[in-house]
Amino acid sequence: MPTILAIETSCDETAVAVVRDRSILSNVIMSQIDTHASWGGVVPEVAAREHVEAINYAIAQAYLDSQLTWQDIDGIAVTAAPGLIGALLVGMTAAKTLAMLYAKPLIGVHHLEGHICSAFLAEPNLEPPFLCLLVSGGHSSLILVKDYGDYQVVGRTRDDAAGEAFDKVARLLKLGYPGGPAIERAAQGGNSSAYNLPQGKIQDAPYDFSFSGLKTAVLRLTEKINLLSPVALPITDIAASFQFTIAQTLATRSVKCALAYQMQTLVVVGGVAANSELRALLQNLANQNQIRVIFPPLKLCTDNAAMIGCAGSIHLSRGETSKLDLASRAKLNIQDCQVLYA
Ligand code: KG4
Ligand code: ZN
Repeated sequence: MPTILAIETSCDETAVAVVRDRSILSNVIMSQIDTHASWGGVVPEVAAREHVEAINYAIAQAYLDSQLTWQDIDGIAVTAAPGLIGALLVGMTAAKTLAMLYAKPLIGVHHLEGHICSAFLAEPNLEPPFLCLLVSGGHSSLILVKDYGDYQVVGRTRDDAAGEAFDKVARLLKLGYPGGPAIERAAQGGNSSAYNLPQGKIQDAPYDFSFSGLKTAVLRLTEKINLLSPVALPITDIAASFQFTIAQTLATRSVKCALAYQMQTLVVVGGVAANSELRALLQNLANQNQIRVIFPPLKLCTDNAAMIGCAGSIHLSRGETSKLDLASRAKLNIQDCQVLYA
């Protein structure tokens, strides 16, 4: 049962946690959302600078909250890929420094594997195999978790990620950033069948997604409504119809995929998993098909370091550690995450 101090700085949260196997001893998340909101999205250079300012406080707080000493910590885990390179480098430098200072093994973790592991924190008895729907700001994938560290991507987005579509449509409707929660709020009480929007089907790839057409359809719709009646856009109904379309697309394709691969458990992770429409539609469809569906709590759905710590603890207990010259990478396929280990 290794105890891990973990660092996550791949995007716009400076996060540090201490995790013992599948239980969270501390979980500090310092969000930069307010800084980036004024730009309407994450500015990579600003993100890196904010990580530099926050990282030492986050480490000190997570260490204090855990009520452990460095002696109790067995390894330092860090998000090594994928992500914004300047942001990743801040976490990597901090992790290497701690690993050297306290003579602990370094464990580089793939960010998406971290998201998958948030399910183990939510459900400590969960074991592979299962299907994972990973829906965040940068990724929308269906991943078969065949075993620990053994992943097969069976569906992916061909263009925008689901969270990216939420963010872009929110910007279009002038609802602010981050778009997911803003659309969810705006859609409350709206008529989700007011507008018929495209689900972005891809021929011969039943589990792939495409959300850029949906985003363009919302743009055309707003232009058309503006031409006909330039007074006020029916934002509530547009937001509700968009949210329903994206949730319905994700839910139907995930359940179909779980049935095709004979998976009895479907795990839903990433920032978009916080969406209550997606949760309701998926739960319903999964129940109808005798599939167990697991949603980690909201705090574990968006970026955090506890999930990275859980992945780190799995790798360390398998004897998989990284070299101290491990490089951060902006891109890395999850199927290749073994390259992070020496
Ligand atoms: O996993 P995450 O925190 O960061 C990435 O690794 O990308 O996901 C952030 C994404 C953003 O695009 C945000 O708009 C979306 O998750 N999101 C949501 C909700 N909360 C966050 N999307 C839909 N509904 C939500 N409630
Ligand atoms: Zn993420």
